[in-house]
Amino acid sequence: MKQLITLSALSLLALIGAPAGAQSMDKPLAPSAASAYPVAPAPGLYDALGGQTGLRTLMNDFVNRLKADARLAEAFKDANGANLAKQLTDQICQLAGGPCVYNGPDMKEAHSNMDVTRADFNALVEVLQMSMEVRGIPFARQNQLLALLAPMHRDVINVR
Ligand code: HEM
Repeated sequence: MKQLITLSALSLLALIGAPAGAQSMDKPLAPSAASAYPVAPAPGLYDALGGQTGLRTLMNDFVNRLKADARLAEAFKDANGANLAKQLTDQICQLAGGPCVYNGPDMKEAHSNMDVTRADFNALVEVLQMSMEVRGIPFARQNQLLALLAPMHRDVINVR
């Protein structure tokens, strides 16, 4: 299990590394609303994540784990857990090809009033992997969701 998680974290790092390296620093960043990340979801991903109900359960668990995680608890201590879980559900539902529309702020704006490092981002990914593992989401499906989130690192990480 540990090996699977490590492998998955590595594959995400690879995904993160590629676009960052390819993008020149002085080019304008792509728009960052949920729908603006141009990565197509793998066919069937939304259903594999349990649809809207499954995603909401997954995100409730994820937010609870974020608040309990030693690396991230401080960042999430004042977060409105119910609202965050709802926003994440809408965002991931939309990204995964489901019938939802995320109406929240874009990722740059949502994280502009806090310092987010690459270590924070990677820690959050590990917590999400744990939530997916506990719900029995197959490893390949886990990675398909992570692949949709990986491009957001450009907008979420603001301390380099
Ligand atoms: C792919 C990675 C991430 C995604 C998809 C994501 C997504 C979101 C979304 C959708 C919101 C809600 C915005 C709103 O409605 O106002 C949010 C808020 C937030 N995010 Fe992230 N985030 C990511 C990474 C991170 C990381 C690494 C941190 C670590 C510090 C973080 C900390 C927060 C905090 C503290 C809030 C505010 C919650 C509140 O006050 O209710 N996020 N994020």
